[in-house]
Amino acid sequence: MQPPPATANVRVRRAEASDLDDLVSLEQRTFDSDRLSRAQYRRHLDSDSARVLVASADHRHFLGSAVLFFRKGSAVARLYSLATQPDARGKGIGTALVEAVEAAAHRRRCRMLRLEVRADNTAAIALYERQGYRRTGFLEGYYEDGADGWRYEKPLAPGQGASLTRPATARFSAA
Ligand SMILES: CC(C)(COP(=O)(O)OP(=O)(O)OC[C@H]1O[C@@H](n2cnc3c(N)ncnc32)[C@H](O)[C@@H]1OP(=O)(O)O)[C@@H](O)C(=O)NCCC(=O)NCCS
Repeated sequence: MQPPPATANVRVRRAEASDLDDLVSLEQRTFDSDRLSRAQYRRHLDSDSARVLVASADHRHFLGSAVLFFRKGSAVARLYSLATQPDARGKGIGTALVEAVEAAAHRRRCRMLRLEVRADNTAAIALYERQGYRRTGFLEGYYEDGADGWRYEKPLAPGQGASLTRPATARFSAA
């Protein structure tokens, strides 16, 4: 696959079955434990209680993904997973995905987004805090490997359903 051009539009869209290979490969590259399997991704793509989003540059280059869960009768949505390709980090992809997740939750009439993050994940914590998430709880030994976590929440304001397209601000390297 050709690398994305120097300046490319990052678009966040709903994942499709044709994204499965990219989703699973990013999951395996990114997470050592608590991984979503291919079968789980396949189920989430078709499920009304999940939304899988994909960030791509110029419609082709797979840059990252996010998984959002809904619970019937609940106004709280859960951001379960967020990942950017290692060589595309620090260029606003994660932020664009979080904004798209918030818009998707807002469209489902959710009032709150909740997430858990490993206590040692400084990059993700910085991103969430900059996006207005507030720490609401400590999760001792929460992860499969025994790592601690933090719970974060953000109330979703009216008008959250803004555009899901934003220009990239930096040069991409081949993904
Ligand atoms: C967390 C993650 C999704 C961020 O994605 P990204 O595309 O790099 O995010 P952005 O470019 O939008 O960065 C937004 C902010 O994140 C923080 N950040 C990103 N990379 C960082 C790094 N290497 N070190 C510290 N902070 C970092 C910064 O606050 C950054 O803001 P800045 O641009 O003003 O410096 C990405 O690092 C990743 O995939 N990590 C592995 C998976 C993971 O930890 N997921 C989250 C838990 S489920």
